[in-house]
Amino acid sequence: MQICKFYVNLSLDGGVCPRITEEIWLESGEQPILNRYSKGGTRVQVLTILGSPRKSGNTATVLGWVEEELKGLGHKIDRVDVIDHRIGGCIGCWTCAKIPDEPRCVLGDGTEAIFERMIPTDAILSASPLYMWGFASQLKAFLDRCACLVKDYGGPNYKSLIGGKKSALLVTCMGPLEKADLIQEIYNRFAGYAQLASVGELIVPNCTEPDQLAEDAKTQAKALARQIVG
Ligand SMILES: Cc1cc2nc3c(=O)[nH]c(=O)nc-3n(C[C@H](O)[C@H](O)[C@H](O)COP(=O)(O)O)c2cc1C
Repeated sequence: MQICKFYVNLSLDGGVCPRITEEIWLESGEQPILNRYSKGGTRVQVLTILGSPRKSGNTATVLGWVEEELKGLGHKIDRVDVIDHRIGGCIGCWTCAKIPDEPRCVLGDGTEAIFERMIPTDAILSASPLYMWGFASQLKAFLDRCACLVKDYGGPNYKSLIGGKKSALLVTCMGPLEKADLIQEIYNRFAGYAQLASVGELIVPNCTEPDQLAEDAKTQAKALARQIVG
């Protein structure tokens, strides 16, 4: 997490000629954000996971609106498109469970690199189309593999390498809202297992194609963004 001290006092002259009032701490190479923040604001890094195989489909479109809002508020996005990765199914060997403090997996298919991106982030937003009342298989495979992040589940040393992070769920589906109940239940149980703090979920029902998405889907996407960083 990068703490952003307020850098510019925009209120001095209505923002026409901002004056530097305090220092800002930035990661190397980063440019300061000169607007949007209230005093003492915190820049949040959000890892977004697109679980749809369609990179320009309904889920990607709504997720794009969430990301747009987050970026507009000055937060940082790291997007993972699961379809770009060859994420093999968990083989249940539990070798990962014997390696404390590291998200190691014997499959060696590059999924570890995604885990390494999850660990330093502040919030994780998982987005999926509803497939057979559950997650798209690409995202389901990834969530199974997240067992690598949880150590000694139910034991005295139970801990999650992504514990305490905020998490949210976005789902698009063709059917009505009430048929997307199971995926929410499963996600919430996953979040509990991974010791994530659920901060919001958005289910967008009655989807056909991206250009047909209901007007209020964008409004709800923006609201989800604010829930994540609120
Ligand atoms: C294999 C498959 C299974 C689906 N299962 C459901 C379902 O159980 N319930 C539902 O409402 N929609 C279902 N749908 C529709 C998708 O959830 C919906 O069109 C979604 O918005 C597609 O998102 P995308 O454009 O990101 O791929 C299914 C679609 C496919 C291809």
